[in-house]
Amino acid sequence: MPAATPDEAPPPLVGRARAHANIALVKYWGKADERENLPAVPSLSLTLDRLKTETEVSFDPRLERDVAWIDGVEQSGRPLERIQRLLDQVRGQSRLVHHAEVRSKNSFPTASGLASSASGFAALSLGAARAAGLDSRPEAMSELARRASASASRSIFGGYVVLGAGAKRAEQLLAPDAWPLTMVVAMTTVRPKPIGSTEAMLTTARTSPYYAAWIESSTGLFEEARSAVLERDLDRLGEAMEASTLSMHASMLAARPSILFFTAATLAAIDTVRALRASGTQAYFTVDAGPHVKVLTTPEATPAVETRLRATPGVEAVVVCHPGPGAELLAAAAP
Ligand code: PMV
Repeated sequence: MPAATPDEAPPPLVGRARAHANIALVKYWGKADERENLPAVPSLSLTLDRLKTETEVSFDPRLERDVAWIDGVEQSGRPLERIQRLLDQVRGQSRLVHHAEVRSKNSFPTASGLASSASGFAALSLGAARAAGLDSRPEAMSELARRASASASRSIFGGYVVLGAGAKRAEQLLAPDAWPLTMVVAMTTVRPKPIGSTEAMLTTARTSPYYAAWIESSTGLFEEARSAVLERDLDRLGEAMEASTLSMHASMLAARPSILFFTAATLAAIDTVRALRASGTQAYFTVDAGPHVKVLTTPEATPAVETRLRATPGVEAVVVCHPGPGAELLAAAAP
């Protein structure tokens, strides 16, 4: 059936939402179920106030195909397919048949290891569910977002968030203001990452001799971090956090072909954090599927951490973040 002509078409169904990126303190790396996109290991994250995505979704009978724009760039290929898969689920659940237009804006560079897929798919889930008139409570949204990107299920919630091994949705562990730590993000480059996290995870699982050890150690690290958060013990949390990040990267390094996200600047920033710690500052690093370094510290130590990271060779920009809120609906823009 051809798309309706402009005068007879009903108005588009529009939903707008905002979600913040989250950084895993204890990492998710590996899938228990590839089709369902269930994580093989438990993870614990912090949602960040200054890294955010705003997305508007319009299901519009006049459209002849789905279109998606991220920061003004029209998407195609795999990024568009991932968006369409989520839209198809929303269409299936709501019995909508219309194509959609998605417009998304990030407050930070896309696909560079700064968790744009987490905030992006969380905002898309909520915006699309709202537009289609579906249940948009956090439990349902976390499950919808997880199918697109497991880390996105955590961005539905604010503050400190957990996603269990094999879990369908994330849960909040602590509200954003329950423990006011700072995450100082040191951006070392704004180039897109060389390999996507899904492909990198699957290669690690298939070929790395250290993948089994990573899976085995992950539950202990998660439990350590979880209890450290509940007890507000930054040193214990930081210890578990660094062990998780380095174990995850070790499992990737041993994959065939090897996956290496670190650059010289990544190592320099890690050195900076270690030097700060040696001089008595509570600061701990984590690195995701990209070269940036994120440093967890106290509000008191933040100025010193920021200054030292800015002076680190290869660090191009520093963003000071605090625990941020969960995904939220926004009023639709005026037509
Ligand atoms: O959910 P994905 O496919 O974007 O993978 C996220 C992987 C890491 O960011 C490296 C770890 C994590 O737990 O967020």
